[in-house]
Amino acid sequence: MEKTKRLIIQDEQLSNDKAIQKAAEYLMTGEVVAFPTETVYGLGADATNEQAVRKIFQAKKRPEDNPLIAHVATKGQLEMLVKDIPSFVHQLIDAFSPGPLTYVLKSSDKCARNVTAGLATVAVRIPNHPVALKLLKVCDLPIAAPSANVSGRPSPTTARHVLDDLAGSIACVLDGGPTGIGVESTVIDCTKEKPLILRPGGITKEKIEDVLGFAIETVQRDKTEQAASPGMKYKHYAPNIPLWLIAGTKEKIQSIIHQERKKGKRVGVMAREGLLFHLIADQKVSLGQTIKEVALNLYSALRSFHEDDIDIIVCESFPEDDLGHAIMNRLKKAASVYK
Ligand code: TXA
Ligand code: MG
Repeated sequence: MEKTKRLIIQDEQLSNDKAIQKAAEYLMTGEVVAFPTETVYGLGADATNEQAVRKIFQAKKRPEDNPLIAHVATKGQLEMLVKDIPSFVHQLIDAFSPGPLTYVLKSSDKCARNVTAGLATVAVRIPNHPVALKLLKVCDLPIAAPSANVSGRPSPTTARHVLDDLAGSIACVLDGGPTGIGVESTVIDCTKEKPLILRPGGITKEKIEDVLGFAIETVQRDKTEQAASPGMKYKHYAPNIPLWLIAGTKEKIQSIIHQERKKGKRVGVMAREGLLFHLIADQKVSLGQTIKEVALNLYSALRSFHEDDIDIIVCESFPEDDLGHAIMNRLKKAASVYK
């Protein structure tokens, strides 16, 4: 692909309808298209077209044994992609869909084999974003879409991030402005008697438990991603810049930064505003104030450090409840040091 078109929704360079129509045409003819969802930008292709889906794996350099999420616009379309829906899934759909909850269910084999990486299950969600929903309605297809980043990089929360990673290898990006949640959807395995959280995300465990009326578990490790990257102990989200995740007081964090700077290392730090204000470092990036803002800013903060300027990124750690669960899940995966 020579050039990636940026179909701008926000600034109405193309009217919303025309931009979405154009993107839908690309999808219907087997091209890949990046689009905004409420969590992060997705990289979409027709989920029923194996060759189109292959282009997603190629553009992202994603291991082929890591399955994709199929996105649909309605509950009826979701039901067509799966079989044996337990009653608790209906409860969850009524409460959270459209929204950042992805259901893993037995597949009815309507999706191409490479969407599910050959598994008997398929992951499906209804995104809660007007552009994503309209796109799905116009093309009237299930759209397979992982996050629209190169594998191993932070997920994109703006169209700019998508272009930084994928310009030239995708047909277009629909620019719907910054995404509203900032971390990916919660992935929940619904194939057993009780649901099991495979990946914490935009819908918290507490909220799910409130709806179901009973406690559920989270798997300790994202097994699918582990299996997809055998031997890869941790990911450096910012290429070649190790991330140090530090739990504890501002004094502890500052003393670690001091120690490393004394050794001649250039240290970047990302933290909430109240803490950041007190720290001395070579580059300081604010994560905002509330835990919601931290989720929103997390990936763009990680993307803002460059290896020419910074040798180590230090990040404060967060309580693992509410959205903190999803945030710490991503940070622990990215960190080479956690103390
Ligand atoms: O918010 C999101 O979920 C975003 C937006 C674009 O929708 N998408 C996203 O996709 O984060 P991706 O591919 O980056 O993450 C999908 C996760 C992976 O951990 C994958 O292994 C898991 O879902 N997954 C997909 N299909 C599965 C299946 N059948 N069984 C278990 N895990 C599955
Ligand atoms: Mg991803």
